[in-house]
Amino acid sequence: MPRGLFITLEGGEGAGKSTNLAFIRQWLQRAGHEVVVTREPGGTELGERVRDILLHSKQLHITPESEMLLMFAARAEHLAKVIRPALAAGKTVLCDRFTDATYAYQGGGRGLAAERIAAMENWVQGDLRPDLTLLLDIPVEAGRARAGQRGEPDRFEREDNEFFTRVHAIYLARAQADPKRMRVIDASRALPQVEQQIAAVLEELVHGR
Ligand code: TMP
Repeated sequence: MPRGLFITLEGGEGAGKSTNLAFIRQWLQRAGHEVVVTREPGGTELGERVRDILLHSKQLHITPESEMLLMFAARAEHLAKVIRPALAAGKTVLCDRFTDATYAYQGGGRGLAAERIAAMENWVQGDLRPDLTLLLDIPVEAGRARAGQRGEPDRFEREDNEFFTRVHAIYLARAQADPKRMRVIDASRALPQVEQQIAAVLEELVHGR
């Protein structure tokens, strides 16, 4: 059996990831895919516990190195227990964030060297990379204004605009460096237009296979 498609979704704060994740899942299901929707950090019992530490601890000082290693610990578990088995069974995996987020947040945001992240990526993932990554792109200030309307900010959301400007820059640079895999969606437009862009990219992927 050919392995299933591995699709990841990325974006800054307030880019509309949840809304668009539901749209992507429905689109794929209508196209006949069996879809496993999951997220990072998270997706397994251990991963969700790590997520809780990373997003919700207030007093704990976590170094950038530890933060990056915890992301990859959760990812190793997620790959072994959820992602690889689903792909091997021919299912399409739709993952809310993956390693591009580590480059953007721990690399760009926290300033860790990309080579360190690449070394972990190669070790933990072997040669597995997403077939497609949709980057929901929105200017930092606009996205933060949208996200700010939600409840209490988590450990990342409490960072300042400069942090998110670095995150944004790395996401865009990665899309530019790998335009076939990573597609930029203009998420500042009205929802129907965002959906239209996403559908066009999915169409291309599914039919180009
Ligand atoms: P979210 O699911 O609401 O996007 O929250 C996940 C947060 O974790 C988000 O702020 C981005 C951050 N994150 C990293 O910093 N590095 C990573 O590798 C991943 C997967 C997420």
